[in-house]
Amino acid sequence: TALTLAACGGGDAEGDGATAGGGENAAADGKTLRLALNQTEEHPSFIALDNWGNSLEEATDGRWSIEVYPNETLGAQQEALQLVSDGSVDLAIVSGTQLENLNEDFRVFNLPKVFDDVEHQMKVIHDDAIVGDLYSSLEESNSLTVLGGFTQGARSVYTTFGPVESPEDFAGKKLRVQESDLHIAMAEALGASATPMAFGEVYTALQSGVLDAGENNEVSYWTQKHYEVAPDWSYTNHLVGLDYLIVNSDLLEGMSEEDKAIFLDTWTAAHEEHTELWTTATQDAIEQATAGGATFHEIDSAAFDEALSGLAAEFITSDTQQALYDAARNAAE
Ligand code: GCU
Repeated sequence: TALTLAACGGGDAEGDGATAGGGENAAADGKTLRLALNQTEEHPSFIALDNWGNSLEEATDGRWSIEVYPNETLGAQQEALQLVSDGSVDLAIVSGTQLENLNEDFRVFNLPKVFDDVEHQMKVIHDDAIVGDLYSSLEESNSLTVLGGFTQGARSVYTTFGPVESPEDFAGKKLRVQESDLHIAMAEALGASATPMAFGEVYTALQSGVLDAGENNEVSYWTQKHYEVAPDWSYTNHLVGLDYLIVNSDLLEGMSEEDKAIFLDTWTAAHEEHTELWTTATQDAIEQATAGGATFHEIDSAAFDEALSGLAAEFITSDTQQALYDAARNAAE
């Protein structure tokens, strides 16, 4: 089956049709797993994944370990997805926006306002009764299994041209979004013109004026140094973003029952550690970026909230998606 990534008007979305399979990957006795990440080594995702590798190695008497490749060294997320699908890379952290290009049902969790906060999000996305079918939905088509994920925290906007308070302030401005039809529509609803682009290209694009704005969490704003070139942050809090851990399905199936159980248990500990690290990492990022010249503006986000309110109705297009959305909302406090 060919994996074809939807090109949505930007970035390197060529989708060269990698074949799902990954037979070369079967290594039932153990190996050093390669994990693709697009964050720096200071980022809580790197720290939690690196610690996961150590726990896994210890608990399997050295049979299995993990080498985390940060900073897109194995490729940006679109490439990483292909590489895990064809088995040449074992694991990757990819944003939910990437998975909606393979199965539109993933869109539901990429919507603004579907999650109230990190705690709500983690409860939903690790509840097998809600996500079981979704997470196995890419196994036959793409040899990808989703094992849960890490929060991206609340995302807001940052700009090269001063703070924003309403969609009018974005008129004629180019806002970078992830490679997702939903997030392109989201940028337009925020009043901007949408520019989909891979994460690692954003700094230079902001610096050179190809972009006027980005949207992310404080941790990435700091670790990617985007504050240096887009120093005004405005708290739109438009969504709580989500990163998934994906593994090559054949690799997972090839593990002994004992090692698979250890692999999954140590992963659970890793995402719990990530959630614990997140709050402090966010506070640190705000302090560091402020010291580096950024200003964080608390704004009344009502005009933006109103502009985004139609997206759920527009992008939920099936009963399965509605059921996922309802299950997520029902789990809110
Ligand atoms: C966050 C997220 C990444 C994502 C990035 C982006 O940093 O954790 O997975 O790639 O945002 O905006 O592209």
